[in-house]
Amino acid sequence: MSEKEIKNLEEIFEAKIARDEKIEPKDWMPEKYRKTHIRQMSQHAHSEIVGMLPEGNWITRAPSLRRKVALLAKVQDEAGHGLYLYSATETLGISRDELYDQLHSGKAKYSSIFNYPTITWADIGAIGWLVDGAAIINQVPLCSTSFGPYARAMVRVCKEESFHQRQGYEIMLTLCKGTPEQKEMAQDALNRWWWPSLMMFGPTDDESTHTEQSMKWKLKRKTNDELRQQFIDQTVPQADILGIKVPDEDLKWNEETGHYDFGKINWDEFWQVVKGHGPCNKERLQTRVDAWEGGEWVRDAAMAYAEKQADKKVKRAG
Ligand SMILES: [Fe+2]
Ligand SMILES: [Fe+2]
Repeated sequence: MSEKEIKNLEEIFEAKIARDEKIEPKDWMPEKYRKTHIRQMSQHAHSEIVGMLPEGNWITRAPSLRRKVALLAKVQDEAGHGLYLYSATETLGISRDELYDQLHSGKAKYSSIFNYPTITWADIGAIGWLVDGAAIINQVPLCSTSFGPYARAMVRVCKEESFHQRQGYEIMLTLCKGTPEQKEMAQDALNRWWWPSLMMFGPTDDESTHTEQSMKWKLKRKTNDELRQQFIDQTVPQADILGIKVPDEDLKWNEETGHYDFGKINWDEFWQVVKGHGPCNKERLQTRVDAWEGGEWVRDAAMAYAEKQADKKVKRAG
């Protein structure tokens, strides 16, 4: 293709995005757009399935049948989110096997929040309330992102996330209305999950490398700092209703800005976990690898069966 032709295609592509039209898998797209989307969407897919692990830890120990049913449904939803997102990523010309391989070899990242342990039942409440709550804020803008398969997957994902957020908050509410020990469990979970939840929005705007280009492609509509502020403004009043305290001495309503001021985030901790040194990085990855290897015979059997059926069909036709 000549330079002029490429330029022409680029212009058509940019104009489409500017008009809020979707880019579909068979449309021409710049290589950088394809690569960025493979990276972000697969990272998102990996986060969904690794995110099942800390909560799966509590399915057998949920305190009642009702809680068990809700938690099972939520963890299954996350598997579903992973599947839509892997499928959507595959439309960009990368195979599922390659994507899994990137995850299992440690080459691909997933959200660092899932490298923290779930040590009490209150953590399941805090995760739904804070982690799924932060995920919604991150994901709602993606419903109108430029890449069609991603945008469409996000519509359903976001609906399910809001159920997750509510079931988590309801667990917190029940604990906070319970015995002093239960309320203390809720407070302890908030203490441990608050700061990592704020880190889910990524580095501050001046440190973030992808923001400008991603804004142009509508992969991002608000900056990390704006989204983080939105999360804080929305979540602090919810903690007040629960009657527990956000673990930040500098947290204060600012009449002038109409937002909460908040304390310093420990970015050292953030980078440590991103680089693989969080409390559960090794354990999470190992669990995924074991699941993949342990399931190999099922995949092999399914493939062998499919081949047999295809053979039969050919023979019948012949
Ligand atoms: Fe999800
Ligand atoms: Fe969720």
